[in-house]
Amino acid sequence: TILVLDFGSQYSHLITRRLREFNIYAEMLPCTQKISELSWKPKGVILSGGPYSVYEDGAPHVDHDVFALDVPILGICYGMQELAWINGKQVARGEKREYGPATLNVVDKVSPLFQGVDHSRVWMSHGDKLHGLPTGFKVIATSDNSPYCGISHESKPIYGIQFHPEVTHSTHGKILLKNFAVDLCHAQQNWTMENFIDTEIQRIRNLVGPTAEVIGAVSGGVDSTVASKLMTEAIGDRFHALLVDNGVLRLNEAAMVKETLGDGLGINLTVVDASEEFLSKLKGVADPEKKRKIIGNTFIHVFEREAAKIKPRDGKDIEFLLQGTLYPDVIESISFKGPSQTIKTHHNVGGLLEDMKLKLIEPLRELFKDEVRHLGELLGIPHDLVWRHPFPGPGIAIRVLGEVTPSQVQIARMADHIYIEEIKRAGLYHKIAQAFACLLPVKSVGVMGDQRTYEQVIALRAIETSDFMTADWFPFEHDFLKRVASRIVNEVDGVARVTYDITSKPPATVEWE
Ligand code: XMP
Repeated sequence: TILVLDFGSQYSHLITRRLREFNIYAEMLPCTQKISELSWKPKGVILSGGPYSVYEDGAPHVDHDVFALDVPILGICYGMQELAWINGKQVARGEKREYGPATLNVVDKVSPLFQGVDHSRVWMSHGDKLHGLPTGFKVIATSDNSPYCGISHESKPIYGIQFHPEVTHSTHGKILLKNFAVDLCHAQQNWTMENFIDTEIQRIRNLVGPTAEVIGAVSGGVDSTVASKLMTEAIGDRFHALLVDNGVLRLNEAAMVKETLGDGLGINLTVVDASEEFLSKLKGVADPEKKRKIIGNTFIHVFEREAAKIKPRDGKDIEFLLQGTLYPDVIESISFKGPSQTIKTHHNVGGLLEDMKLKLIEPLRELFKDEVRHLGELLGIPHDLVWRHPFPGPGIAIRVLGEVTPSQVQIARMADHIYIEEIKRAGLYHKIAQAFACLLPVKSVGVMGDQRTYEQVIALRAIETSDFMTADWFPFEHDFLKRVASRIVNEVDGVARVTYDITSKPPATVEWE
């Protein structure tokens, strides 16, 4: 195992991710980790980048015992400056920030670290820089702007690099990380998702102990299902899953979740029907952010109330809360770039922690979505669920534009159901990242039989995207759209017209609200 000590860079987790692409296991711990308190001996240590300046008061520093481990050490960006600070304090603010690509020029052609990466593009992102060589170090690589782009100790396997090999903009960066882990640290390349399951189950058991109990919300989505299944494998019925039916779920969703998770996967699941409570609170509210807030707060309220009804066998309170947090959520929450402007407040259950005094378990926090899906398949979760499109926490409430009433929800739900059914039938479901129907709060004139109709409009949306930050609309065949439109108008009461949304993100967002 390679130990990654995290100094807070938004890229830190990518280091473990890249190593895993070579089946090398790496564990990330905070930079303040005491080496004497580690229960295992790393084969090598990587010091990550970070948003601080090593010379500032309060800047984080590594436990010097790391050098007594006598294993190879690689400092990246802040990590390299930390090495320089410890060995002669040769760090200062640069005249200007260096941000963007540079070309790596390897000086020490035989350095094991740089085999196969000479002249490649590397990504820089730093304000501070070395203004001299730390004591006992030599230069092993340069770039146009950085005379100290790569350094190494004269006699020990201690390396520093100014750029970020973990980001894909550094074209050969992952080779460098592999060189470090395999050629210098002799780490084994035997990490697999199967091993992850075993170690994670063991970690959960150690964390929870022999009697404590855990609760977690499930939604019918991939992340909460995978997290719950893993938890069930680890502690069985001491894990309690709760599905809150908020009245704005998809058609038959609660029953489907009960069947797949409860009956099929053996998860100890309770379904709570709180639809009326949610819908009555949503009455008269048309503003999307208000809707989100109401749903978020009501969820916390209902979850706490229902959780209190679950009585653990040892008579004590439930101690832990399971969350299906993924790596991208983690980056977002630790990003040091400052809060970005809120376009939409995305629902999360963070509020539960403060109120319920629960300890958090996040077994998926190291994983990317594709890894979670792989894990889900290995855990025996049905393929269709593993590859399901994402569904927002506020559900159909943000797909019924304007005020949410039970009858409006029903219209949107039926239209959505038909749309998704046709997408699946056409074999397109997995080619599309997300698809749904929205009910627009406008009426339009139509004619059915000999009757004039005056009813609402459904807008269909389907997007292609890899990260949901940008997206393009999906180019359906005209016949497909014709079929869906005709079915919706014929089968869903209250709809007289169907449109297809052909806006990309940006400028539009994925959801209409
Ligand atoms: P937007 O509309 O922001 O959507 O372009 C990007 C992705 O986020 C989902 N989304 C939400 N998910 N709570 C959620 O859990 C929300 O309030 C929310 N709003 C949008 C959206 O479905 C898409 O996948």
